[in-house]
Amino acid sequence: MKALIAAGGRATRLRPITWTRNKHLIPMANKPMLWYVLKKVTDAGIKDIIINVNPGEVKYMSDALGDGSEFGAKITYLEQRGGAKGLAHVVANAEEHLKGERFLFFLGDNIILGSINKFVDRFQNEDLDCMIALSEVKDPHRFGVAEFHADGTLKRTVEKPKDPPSPFAVTGIYLFDEKFFEAFKTAEPSARGEYEITDIITWYIRNGKVGHEEITGWWKDTGTPDALIEGNALIMDDMERGEFCVDCKPHVDAQIQGLVSIGEGSTIASDCLIRGPVAIGKNCTIESSFIGPYTAIGDDVTIKDSEVEHSIVFDGATIDTTRRIVNSLIGVNATLVDHKRSHPKTSHRLVVGDNSFIEL
Ligand code: G1P
Repeated sequence: MKALIAAGGRATRLRPITWTRNKHLIPMANKPMLWYVLKKVTDAGIKDIIINVNPGEVKYMSDALGDGSEFGAKITYLEQRGGAKGLAHVVANAEEHLKGERFLFFLGDNIILGSINKFVDRFQNEDLDCMIALSEVKDPHRFGVAEFHADGTLKRTVEKPKDPPSPFAVTGIYLFDEKFFEAFKTAEPSARGEYEITDIITWYIRNGKVGHEEITGWWKDTGTPDALIEGNALIMDDMERGEFCVDCKPHVDAQIQGLVSIGEGSTIASDCLIRGPVAIGKNCTIESSFIGPYTAIGDDVTIKDSEVEHSIVFDGATIDTTRRIVNSLIGVNATLVDHKRSHPKTSHRLVVGDNSFIEL
């Protein structure tokens, strides 16, 4: 079986972070978001993987993610052609690779805890034409939503309905058989101008055998900063003890509590408390600071006289402020310092990128 992973798009709700990087490469627990998707897919035994990327991003994405050998897999990077016209169109774009195949389609921004094996196994063992993974959510109007007949069988799936027919979101983990391309020929663009994957699923419900299974553990589409930070925390909770390791020598008086990993070349001074789960990258300098649970810190970061908790700090950032930083995303080479010399004393001096969010 093959897998297609969707890793294009502009991710406008994550600007300014996504001005300079594809959202699927945003680090979570210090690995690109897509790494976790590749892990799930290859753990399910699928080793022939196509990653759909934005035009011009093949080299950039393959430099970051490699050729799949890390996972014993083969990755083909495929540029989206014909513009951004919805998820069904992303699959249609890969027809040359998927024609005649049964395949998994996985949205690269969907993070789930636990394995996807049971979905893949049911699809294969029950010889289904299509299989979808559902998740009960509080805000179904933000997603594709499943509608059921009175007997509990699927009636259709509908994209972002104002009046959701059920609380079950259609998650970004789908399995289709070779009839996908036949179904696509019948699809029309929706009101938002996109070929909706939910219309294809509805076609399958009417023309074939569709299985559905609820994701009982945690599932998130990481479209917003809050969802990213929560995803980062959940990934850390899901990590094995053995995945945390300290590859440098923190000062003997530094307090390291719980599950903590620290990369080579980092220095942790005596007056620090690092309370895990925490991941710190290479060549970081941490002095007189508290790094609290669920914080992921990239490489070459300097943190002094600060408290940082439940946050993602990207490579090269500097934090030197007596204010406590929580639930935050701090971008590459960003600097947070205390107000020192400027007047009046209550003023703030800011260089803020487009679409930034700052709570003072
Ligand atoms: C897409 C799909 C939607 C699905 C969601 C899951 O929405 O169109 O059906 O529920 O992914 O992440 P989008 O992320 O494009 O808003």
